[in-house]
Amino acid sequence: MNLFKTKLVGPFKQLLTFAGIPPKGPVADEKLSVIEDAGILLKGRFIEAVGGFDELIRDWKVRDAAIERLREDVVGLPGFVDAHTHICYAGSRALDYAMRNAGKSYLEIARSGGGIWNSVQHTRNASDEVLAEGLTGRINRHVKAGVTTMEVKSGYGLNLETEIKMLKTIQKVNQQQSVDLIPTCLAAHILPPDFDGNAGSYLRHLVRDLFPILLSEKLASRIDIFVEETAFAYEVAKSYLIAAGRQGFDLTIHADQFTTGGSKLAVEVKAVSADHLEASSEKEIAYLAKSDTTATVLPGASLGLGMKFAPARSLLDAGGSLAIASDWNPGSAPMGDLLTQAALLGAYEKLTNAEVLAGLTVRAARALKLTDRGSLKPGLLADFIAFPCADYREILYNQGALRPCRVWKKGVR
Ligand code: NIG
Ligand code: FE
Repeated sequence: MNLFKTKLVGPFKQLLTFAGIPPKGPVADEKLSVIEDAGILLKGRFIEAVGGFDELIRDWKVRDAAIERLREDVVGLPGFVDAHTHICYAGSRALDYAMRNAGKSYLEIARSGGGIWNSVQHTRNASDEVLAEGLTGRINRHVKAGVTTMEVKSGYGLNLETEIKMLKTIQKVNQQQSVDLIPTCLAAHILPPDFDGNAGSYLRHLVRDLFPILLSEKLASRIDIFVEETAFAYEVAKSYLIAAGRQGFDLTIHADQFTTGGSKLAVEVKAVSADHLEASSEKEIAYLAKSDTTATVLPGASLGLGMKFAPARSLLDAGGSLAIASDWNPGSAPMGDLLTQAALLGAYEKLTNAEVLAGLTVRAARALKLTDRGSLKPGLLADFIAFPCADYREILYNQGALRPCRVWKKGVR
C-alpha cells in the first residue's frame, strides 16, 4: 500500500511560488514567479511538483480520482507564517486600551493594575484548560486567515511554574492541531515585581533553573528578551543571550520598540531576528541590514499603541531582510489580524506586493530558521492557501477584507 498518496490540486488561476525571491533587499512585483493555470502535485505532506495544471496531469499521468479540482477562480500562495505572537495568555486588557486612548501614560496604566503584569496575574491564575482553550481559539482564527505556522511566546508567567505551564500548554496544543506552533521562551519579558532580586539575578536564575528544563523537556529552542531600559537593559541582556547561545538556543530580541539598543545587540549575538524596530534610525537600519538577522516588523503593535510603523521601506532599501508578524498579544497588539496589518503597513511604508507577501511567507520562515516552508517548491511542506480572486494584487488591495477560501496544511485541507 502506498502511504504517500499523490494528489493534484488545481487549477489555480495564478500560483505565487516565491521561488527565487532573494532573502534580503527590495523586491519588485515583476520578480514574483506567477504560474498561470497552475497545479500543485502533492505526495503525502510534501510538494512533489508545481507547474501548469494540464502539464502536471499529462507528465505525471494523474488520474481523475486523484485531483482536487478548484472550480472557481483562485490565487494560490504559500501558507502565511506568523513569526512573532504572544497568543498564549489569559485575561483581557481592554481597560489598558481605553486608558491609553483617554491619554493616560504607561505609568498610570501600570499603577492602576494594567500592563504586562496584569496579563501575568491572569495567566498564573488560569488553569491549563482555560489557557489551552484561549490559545486554540486564537489559532483557529489565524488558520482561517491563512496562517499555517505560528510562533508562540511564553512570557506571561515570569516564574518557573507558569513559564513551564505556558510552554507545556503550547506543546500540547501543538500536538492536537494541524498547524505548527514554534515555541519561544520569553521569561525575560519584564522583571517580575515579586522576584526577590534585580534584573541580573533574575536572568541568572533563568539560565540556571529554567534553561535545563526547556532543554530536557524540549519545551523551547528559542530564547527571546525584551531589551529596553524599562525591561532589560543592554548589558544584562547581553550576558543572558550569550549564555543562551552557548547552550544552543536560537536567539531573538524585542528590539528598538521605544528606544534603540536592542537591534545592535541582536546583530552582535547573531540573533535570528530583531523584532519591533519602531524606534530604529538610520544607524540601526544600516547595521541590521548588513547582518544575517531578519528584521521582523510588527504593524499590529503600532496600530494597537497608536505609534508610528517601523521603517520597513528603509530596512529593505538598505538591503535588509524583512518579515512581517502580528505580535498578537493582549496589551499592545490585540487585533491579531496579520493580513490587515501587513496590508496597512504596505500602504503606509510603500512596500510592493512582493515585499509584503514575501514578508508573510518565505522571509517570515527565514525569521524562524525554517527551511521547509515559505515557498512552493518540490520537497517542501504542502502548506498553501487560496484566495477567491483571479489576480494576486486583489489580496492586499482588499486590506484584509478578502479572506482565503481554502487552506491546506501538510497537504490536508
Ligand atoms: O511585543 N514589548 C513587549 N512585549 C509585547 C507586549 C506585551 C504586552 O503588552 O502584553 C510586545 O509588544
Ligand atoms: Fe512581542
